[in-house]
Amino acid sequence: MVYFRLFFLSVLLTCLPGNATKCGCKSMRACYRSMLRDLRSGGEEACVENVPVSTATVTVFLHALYKYCGKVIQVKKSGVTYVGRTLYEVVINGSSWGNSSKSVTVIDAGQDASEAPVGFALYLIEQLVACMEYQKMIDHIRWVILPSTNPDGMEYSRAKHEYWKKNTRLINNLSYGVDITRNFEVAWADCSAANNSFSQDYPGHQANSENETIFIRNTIQKYSESTKAYVSLRRDGHGIFYPFANENSSNNGTETAKEVAGYVASKVNQEIFLHLFQNDSIFNANIKPHCGHSVDYVFKTFAVPYAFEMRMFVESSNEITSKFHRMPKGYGSSLTAEYFAGIKELYRHIRKTTE
Ligand SMILES: *[C@@H]1O[C@H](CO)[C@@H](O)[C@H](O)[C@H]1NC(C)=O
Ligand SMILES: *[C@@H]1O[C@H](CO)[C@@H](O)[C@H](O)[C@H]1NC(C)=O
Ligand SMILES: *[C@@H]1O[C@H](CO)[C@@H](O)[C@H](O)[C@H]1NC(C)=O
Ligand SMILES: *[C@@H]1O[C@H](CO)[C@@H](O)[C@H](O)[C@H]1NC(C)=O
Ligand SMILES: *[C@@H]1O[C@H](CO)[C@@H](O)[C@H](O)[C@H]1NC(C)=O
Ligand SMILES: *[C@@H]1O[C@H](CO)[C@@H](O)[C@H](O)[C@H]1NC(C)=O
Ligand SMILES: *[C@@H]1O[C@H](CO)[C@@H](O)[C@H](O)[C@H]1NC(C)=O
Ligand SMILES: *[C@@H]1O[C@H](CO)[C@@H](O)[C@H](O)[C@H]1NC(C)=O
Repeated sequence: MVYFRLFFLSVLLTCLPGNATKCGCKSMRACYRSMLRDLRSGGEEACVENVPVSTATVTVFLHALYKYCGKVIQVKKSGVTYVGRTLYEVVINGSSWGNSSKSVTVIDAGQDASEAPVGFALYLIEQLVACMEYQKMIDHIRWVILPSTNPDGMEYSRAKHEYWKKNTRLINNLSYGVDITRNFEVAWADCSAANNSFSQDYPGHQANSENETIFIRNTIQKYSESTKAYVSLRRDGHGIFYPFANENSSNNGTETAKEVAGYVASKVNQEIFLHLFQNDSIFNANIKPHCGHSVDYVFKTFAVPYAFEMRMFVESSNEITSKFHRMPKGYGSSLTAEYFAGIKELYRHIRKTTE
């Protein structure tokens, strides 16, 4: 079994002495070392990737980071959900903080009420802040990360253990929740038969009707002049997908995004290989239109050249899930490394085109 051989290699690598205490960093920033020292003396887990994902994890981690590494990271409370949970905007500062010509990459996670992509966003923040070897990545690009964009939905599905991908706002005293992934204004009304508020695909009574959508949209608008890349991290799959989501026209201004998706996919596939990381248009990945999609919104409204949906950590009932379930515990860390390699590859392409 080639899967298992490669898996044990990765376990071996992540178990090398010292690695666990450095959260995978070759060289750790001093502020982060102090943070870990204090957390560990309080009996806390040192590295965020070892902590179960929850809204409490997001809050505790971001507050600790801001307290210890406030020179590198800004944590803003930029919105509130229906239930009253905070929507965080994280900005990572490198050596030219005030440089407005610095290009921006916006990453959001968990629109679909997922946990694992939120965990990956926290890992990404950890690596960019903690590891000195990624200093160039934060010097050349301003990273704006919205690590948990639908905490109400995430907490609901965690508590109920049921398939849930909407938020939890009460609709007409009848049903709960709007699908944030379908609530953006571009092509919002183009998909028919979406009027059932009990459906997991319910797009809302109008575009931008939800706090979560407005929060993401405000952030995108705020940085739109400098934004070169946008990545929306979601569950149920393993691949990078480019515009469009609502129509099958993959050769209409999408050539650059398509080409870079290919580079990112081939980079991910070079890493410890578990399952082929796909690249395609969002439409083709779904085999049907997905209207009101944030990637289409960013691509069509602001002409952001690299706009992607990245699917990660297969969770639902499709044919590759069972294969993953049979994997020994811990495969998640190899997948995390693969996905991070994909983000680093995207960074290289953004730099190439902005210098
Ligand atoms: C951003 O980083 C630079 C250099 O690391 C530092 O001089 C500056 O004070 C930081 N800005 C903020 C707002 O923390
Ligand atoms: C979000 O929802 C809460 C509660 O329903 C509300 O108080 C708040 O003003 C809404 N809007 C924003 C932008 O947070
Ligand atoms: C601002 O950032 C751009 C792009 O990274 C760079 O070319 C320029 O030299 C920077 N300016 C300053 C004052 O740091
Ligand atoms: C929902 O129920 C409350 C109290 O039961 C009522 O006051 C309100 O008018 C109802 N709203 C709608 C839209 O039916
Ligand atoms: C959706 O349902 C509402 C109320 O049930 C109705 O007023 C509206 O016309 C419907 N819209 C479509 C497009 O069917
Ligand atoms: C291609 O884009 C242009 C302008 O953005 C639009 O007018 C045209 O309808 C698009 N064609 C297809 C096949 O989507
Ligand atoms: C991208 O996807 C196409 C088919 O959708 C595939 O033929 C190609 O090998 C993929 N590229 C990479 C680098 O994985
Ligand atoms: C989209 O168009 C391409 C090329 O025209 C075709 O190969 C593909 O099957 C279409 N996708 C879907 C889901 O119909």
